[in-house]
Amino acid sequence: MAQKAADTGVGPAAIVAIEQHFPEGARIINDDLAFQMLPFGVRAYVWLSRFSWARDWMVRAGEKKAPGVWAMALCRKRYIDDKVVEAVVEQAETVVNLGAGFDTQAYRLPALAEVPVWEVDQPDNIDAKRLRLRKVLGEVPAHVTLVSVNFDSEDLGAVLASQGYALDVKTFFILEGVTQYLTEAGIQETFDFLAKAPAGSRLVFTYVRKDFMDGKVFYGHEFLYKKMLLKDKIWLFGMDPEDVADFLGGYAWRVLEHLGYEELAEVYVKPTGRKLESLALERVVYAEKL
Ligand SMILES: C[S@@+](CC[C@H](N)C(=O)[O-])C[C@H]1O[C@@H](n2cnc3c(N)ncnc32)[C@H](O)[C@@H]1O
Repeated sequence: MAQKAADTGVGPAAIVAIEQHFPEGARIINDDLAFQMLPFGVRAYVWLSRFSWARDWMVRAGEKKAPGVWAMALCRKRYIDDKVVEAVVEQAETVVNLGAGFDTQAYRLPALAEVPVWEVDQPDNIDAKRLRLRKVLGEVPAHVTLVSVNFDSEDLGAVLASQGYALDVKTFFILEGVTQYLTEAGIQETFDFLAKAPAGSRLVFTYVRKDFMDGKVFYGHEFLYKKMLLKDKIWLFGMDPEDVADFLGGYAWRVLEHLGYEELAEVYVKPTGRKLESLALERVVYAEKL
């Protein structure tokens, strides 16, 4: 299943790439690398979005099939950009992006230019990303280390340590759009690893609501339920919002912010004047290591 989950790395990056064709004031995130990082087939599709009719159709079709997913992908990335920039100035000395997919913040945010970053994902995505980085930037930049790991079956801490990551350095961890794909063992492995982070480290993670995963409340997303849980069977893990603080407390992390996409849209979508749906079945948590 984890192997199939690797395919989902492209989706959020494609949304970001399409977004670049909106006029600057209407754009939710700026990312001039997103398009170039995509695999060839996806680039061909995204290329069409330079035409406004195609772009508007893509957004409309996305909103119809999975309302709120468009703004979700963009808002959570903007939020993470903001938090990581703040954290590398104030607390964190390194960044570890767990399930990084085709994320680009390590390559485009000036604040990260000199910060050691480990991008971790499954081998297929890491290999594809390495290829694209070589093509686009000539080489993987020296401050970034690409690491292949399966969180469900490997010792994340040991693999990262073997790639030069020091467990005792304050770190900004990103776990964006990933927890729902992990088995209970993968969640345990990941949070056991996070439990060893030094005090003051920071973490942004997203999770899907447990009542959705249990098929009790669909939040208007029967399509996603059928696809991710019944057909592809790749969404495996969910949490109740009221359990988040205790769950994190068990690993010595404390919640700093716990947000829904309505709240993020107020900050990142409203100023653009665009009307986009917001996704209720996923939430975002920002936490600090105790
Ligand atoms: C929806 S994508 C999110 C990618 C990126 N974080 C973003 O938000 O754009 C989920 C990512 O988690 C990774 N992933 C899922 N299960 C994994 C596992 N067991 N071990 C490592 N990575 C995993 C996938 O390969 C994929 O890149």
